[in-house]
Amino acid sequence: MLDGQRPLDEAAAPAAAPRDRAFARLIALTVLRRMGQLDRLIAGALPRGLPRGRAPVGHLLRLGLAQGLFLGTPLHAVVATTLALADETGGGRIKGLIDATLRRLAAEGPAQLAAQDAARLNTPAWLWQRWVAHWGAPAARAIAEAHLGEPPLDLTLNPAADGAALNHADWAARLDAAMLPTGGLRRGAGGAVEALAGYEAGTWWVQDAAAALPARLLAAAPGTRVVELCAAPGGKTAQLAAAGADVIAVDRAAPRLETLQANLDRLSLAAALVEADAAVWRPPAPVSAVLLDAPCSATGTIRRHPDIARLKRTGDLAALAEVQRRLLANAAAMLAPGGRLVWCTCSLEPEEGEATSRTAADTLPLLPDPVRADELPGLAEAITPEGWVRTLPSQWADRGGLDGFHIARFRKIN
Ligand SMILES: C[S@@+](CC[C@H](N)C(=O)[O-])C[C@H]1O[C@@H](n2cnc3c(N)ncnc32)[C@H](O)[C@@H]1O
Repeated sequence: MLDGQRPLDEAAAPAAAPRDRAFARLIALTVLRRMGQLDRLIAGALPRGLPRGRAPVGHLLRLGLAQGLFLGTPLHAVVATTLALADETGGGRIKGLIDATLRRLAAEGPAQLAAQDAARLNTPAWLWQRWVAHWGAPAARAIAEAHLGEPPLDLTLNPAADGAALNHADWAARLDAAMLPTGGLRRGAGGAVEALAGYEAGTWWVQDAAAALPARLLAAAPGTRVVELCAAPGGKTAQLAAAGADVIAVDRAAPRLETLQANLDRLSLAAALVEADAAVWRPPAPVSAVLLDAPCSATGTIRRHPDIARLKRTGDLAALAEVQRRLLANAAAMLAPGGRLVWCTCSLEPEEGEATSRTAADTLPLLPDPVRADELPGLAEAITPEGWVRTLPSQWADRGGLDGFHIARFRKIN
């Protein structure tokens, strides 16, 4: 994944059994979350560097150490599986070195880890510097700390399920979840979502609490025609459809639209799906509500997808910001006068959020429509002086954090 610069979800090979697959994924996620710390330990144990050759010694040591030092796997199992993997990947001749390094760091690693600055070491320098510059040093550290652990599982209940009988408190109890002030449910991390009560019946879908805010802030009345741009895989489409809106969901990726349709089917919800470039597509007639969830660097979701911290580059941001500007301009153009637009990105980078919203307010026929505290119960801290929403992974720290989003709401000028 790292060598091929591919996202973890794409690179992960299907393993034999679901349990093995889940553990393999957990190991990979732990390596990604703790890579700076692991590499510092490895560099200390091998001061002359990694041996040259075919075998991916660095990756083998990272995988073994992640299990031994962070996942509680016994040393004998760590050594046995890592040496077997060394054999499979052409490292038969350096098994002695791998064995000795794993055993030495199993003994010395815990004390070294305790002395490390985990938040700083595990955050790529360019991201750390940007977050300090934009959000301040204490917030940057709190964000990086929020990235170290497994995030909770957030669920949005389907108001269309169970008819009028859907009861949040009952479902919270059934799912062993807490009720969030913004409306969703939150469970501890871990476990297969397909095995949870209500999955088959479509009683809920997985959606981070921050990702559930944009559709909520659009507040489309039942029967309203809503265009949703960049809709797949459909968390926000489901919210809009469940609220009774007549949704046209646009995305340019056909396979992702198929996933969106499958998600809607499980939830017994409906929307009209359109495969098109949202920067140029227009509905047959202007509409009164548009939701745009623009493609972005997704640095706000690093706690769920730690591979993003290793795959993205600072140079990606300008091109993404330009795409976002084009999408916003088209979104504004398809709105009827007085119509409402909510747009968002799951990025911690202001170029993909606050700066773009400011440009939109200055250059497009859009007036900011500030979000009020009563619309975000329990989350007033996320409302900015401009009336936009800025969530950070460090917010709701006592509840388990939030994905990082910028959300802005506008009205089309008559
Ligand atoms: C952040 S994801 C959307 C997540 C989705 N709104 C949800 O809540 O589940 C961005 C989506 O934008 C789509 N996309 C990117 N560029 C696009 C474009 N120019 N036109 C239409 N869709 C685009 C991608 O295929 C991807 O599905």
